[in-house]
Parts: sequence; structure tokens; C-alpha cells
Amino acid sequence: MNGGAPPLADALRVAAAAWRRLRSGDSLDRALVRALDEFAAGATAPVHPRLAAAAKDIAYSATRQLALIEAMLDRLSHRAPDPPVAALLAVTLGQLLAPRQPTYAIVDQSVQAAKLQAETRAAAGFVNAVLRNAIRRLPALRTELQQQPTVAFNAPRWWIDRMREAEPAHFAQVLQLQQQVPPLVLRVNRRHGSVEAYLRRLHDEGIEASQVGPAAVWLHTPLPVADIPGFAGGEVSVQDAGAQLAAELLQAQDGMRILDACAAPGGKTAQLAELADNLAIDAVEVDPARAERIEENLRRTQARSHAVIRVLVADAAQPERFAHGRYQRILLDAPCTASGIVRRHPDIPWLRRSADVAQLATLQRRLLDALWPLLEPAGRLLYVVCSVFADEGPRQVDAFVARHADARLLALPGAEDGRLRLLPAHGGAWTAGLPSVHDGFFIAIFEKT
Ligand SMILES: C[S@@+](CC[C@H](N)C(=O)[O-])C[C@H]1O[C@@H](n2cnc3c(N)ncnc32)[C@H](O)[C@@H]1O
Repeated sequence: MNGGAPPLADALRVAAAAWRRLRSGDSLDRALVRALDEFAAGATAPVHPRLAAAAKDIAYSATRQLALIEAMLDRLSHRAPDPPVAALLAVTLGQLLAPRQPTYAIVDQSVQAAKLQAETRAAAGFVNAVLRNAIRRLPALRTELQQQPTVAFNAPRWWIDRMREAEPAHFAQVLQLQQQVPPLVLRVNRRHGSVEAYLRRLHDEGIEASQVGPAAVWLHTPLPVADIPGFAGGEVSVQDAGAQLAAELLQAQDGMRILDACAAPGGKTAQLAELADNLAIDAVEVDPARAERIEENLRRTQARSHAVIRVLVADAAQPERFAHGRYQRILLDAPCTASGIVRRHPDIPWLRRSADVAQLATLQRRLLDALWPLLEPAGRLLYVVCSVFADEGPRQVDAFVARHADARLLALPGAEDGRLRLLPAHGGAWTAGLPSVHDGFFIAIFEKT
């Protein structure tokens, strides 16, 4: 097998199958795994080792332009193509919008892909005609369709409205930034060495990087984890700089009992063990498969050398099932719409429904109320969501404080009122305590009075 890139026709086929699943409600990552499995099951030769990565790249880049692609398809074909044909056209249009090889070669490969599959074979001529027409009309169509907000912001109308409601002054900037490829940011495990020392090591290995938060290093060009210096030995972990802030702000002190209430895949559990000595951490996760990933992370980072950590598979909203006694710190990284991490998961706006926001806010409220009695007096509960929607952030904490007379909001860096809204950002200098390159988060800390 050649060591170069896999045939584009194969990558387009896998990406197209994933696209179909995505448009039927599957997450893009799950859709890609299933599409690749199906491809492998039908293949007569071993699957190219880089096919998964190539298909992922194509599917992600198409999803980052989903609204534009579907609006273009609408204009370019007089009748709606069958779903397998529409999916192949969609992912190919994604490639034509930012071509990395001559457009005629992309069209040829797409026609090849159509011919290789029973369900699209009869439409190979149609695929060819639509794509050639697309190349001719692409610049004008793109300019025209960008006038539609759903295309300009690549999100459904209700999503744009929610974002505008949450951030009237910044919503356009946030939505535009969220169409970009996410930065790869690492957390340096300061038990192994300083950020400065790690930056020097990267520099010596010819890897361009900069510090973007207290322990956060941004690799200017993404690398597979296997190629990241020190990753396998737990010297660094992949973690967004905004996400890193949560465990830092919890200010765990040596020897404390800590509950990490929604813990998988364990990024923050491992981080807590890097920040103080002899902690006793209960890491609770409701999903058993995801709980296994906590164990993997703890092993890689050797977190148990410094802390006693129990990984518990349980519903955090039912503490009677897992808690023995009270905690001095609780970290609630609650399930949410994930509206702050769309750069990493461009499928999110297309998978969520407007009603999900209220449902998730109810779940967050249930978790907060269930966990509050587990906190010792003078203890602190940190609430964090990777969402920028108001119902999951400021409104959630205002309602919590109104329900619990013994809860006091602590002031945070950049948020004197205790409601830290971290909007996705890319660039600038990191200032005391706050990172400069990060996703969108909401963080609040309640102290028990
Ligand atoms: C935002 S993720 C947590 C990320 C994690 N804290 C980290 O830093 O790696 C939320 C997690 O909460 C879990 N979860 C959702 N509902 C839960 C519940 N009722 N009890 C415990 N875990 C829950 C989800 O399965 C998911 O793994």
C-alpha cells in the first residue's frame, strides 16, 4: 500500500456516507466511524491507513459550510437529488469551496466515487454536470447566498437568535469565529516542568507554539497526539485554555476532598491532581464507556501518584448512590448545548433543537440542587458549561442564588459580579489569569456561607 494520501474518491465516499448520517441526526464523529466501518466491510483491498483522517477532514470542512452547501445545491439542481447523490455532491462542493487540488481533479474523483457505488452509479453524469456548473457559478453564488444569515453564520435561525440574545454586541463575531478550524491547545503538567521549559523543547524540535494561558500552550500547526512531545508520558494533555481555567479557579488546597461531578473524559480530574497534593477526588460519570476514558487519562498523566481518585459510575443527581460524607470542593462541568465549542464540533448547531436548551437547563438545575447539600460550610462549588447561551449561564446562576440563601457568588478574574462569560477568542496577549486563545465557557463559583 502506498504511504501517500488515499484516493480522493474513497475519502469522498466515506465522507458522503457520514454526511447522510449527520443529516439524519447522528453526531459527525459517530457518523464517520460507522461510515468507515461500512466502507471497510465492502472493500476488496485493505483500507488505506489515512482514509479515516482524509474523510474526517472532508466531512468537517463541509459541515463548517453546511448551510452554504445546501443552499448551493438547491440552486444547482432542478430537482432534489436522491440522498446518496445529494451527500456526495455536498461533500464535493465543500472541497470545491476551498480547493486543495485542481477543481477538475476533484470533480473527476467525485464522478469516480459515484460510479463505484450502486446507489449513485446511475447519477454519475448528473454529478458531473452539477459540479461543472458549480465551478462556473461558485463565486457569484457564494456572494449572493452569503446575504442569508443562516449561510453567513452557518447555523439555523433559532441558534442565531439565541446567540444574539446571549451576546447582543458580539454574536456576529462569535458565530463567525466558530466557523474556523479550532486551535490545538495543550495543558502543561507543571509537576513535570515549567511552561517555559516545554516551550523551549518545542522550539528545539522545530514546533511553533506560544503560551496563551497560565499553563496553556497553543501549537500553531495541529499535530496528531502521537507526535506531540511528552504527550504519551503525561507531560502535557490536550485541553482548551478556557477549559483549563475551571480547575485552576477551584483553588483546591492540599489534602482536600473533592467531587468532580461530571467527570469524563477526565481532563479536569487529572488537572486537579496536578494542582495540589494528596487530594481525595471522587470522579463521577454516568456513562460507563466514557468513565473508562477517565481511567485512561489518569493512567497516562499518572494522576494517582499524587491523589487518591475513585472513578464512580453514577448519576451525579442521585448523590445517595455514591457519596460518603461531604466535600470541600465540588466541580460541576455540566452537560450543556455545547454552544461555546462549535469550532471543535461544527455539527452541534445542526443536531440540536431549540427545545434542547430548556431541557438541558433543567438538567443543570437538577444537578446543582442535588450537589449543593454535599458541600461543607465554607466549601466552594464551581459550575462550568461550555455554552454561551444565557439560560445555561447567567440565568442559571441567578436562579440558583435565589433558591439557596446560603450560596454566595465569588468574584472571578474578568468578572467582578461572579458570572464569567468567556466568549470564543483567538489571539492577543493572555492577561493575569485569563487566556487569549480559547473556546466559549460560562463559569461561576458558589461559596457556602
Ligand atoms: C462536559 S462533559 C465533562 C468533561 C470533563 N469534566 C473533562 O474535563 O474532561 C460532561 C460529562 O457529564 C456526563 N454526565 C451527563 N449527565 C450526567 C449525570 N447526571 N451524572 C454524571 N455525569 C453526567 C456526560 O456523560 C459527560 O461525560
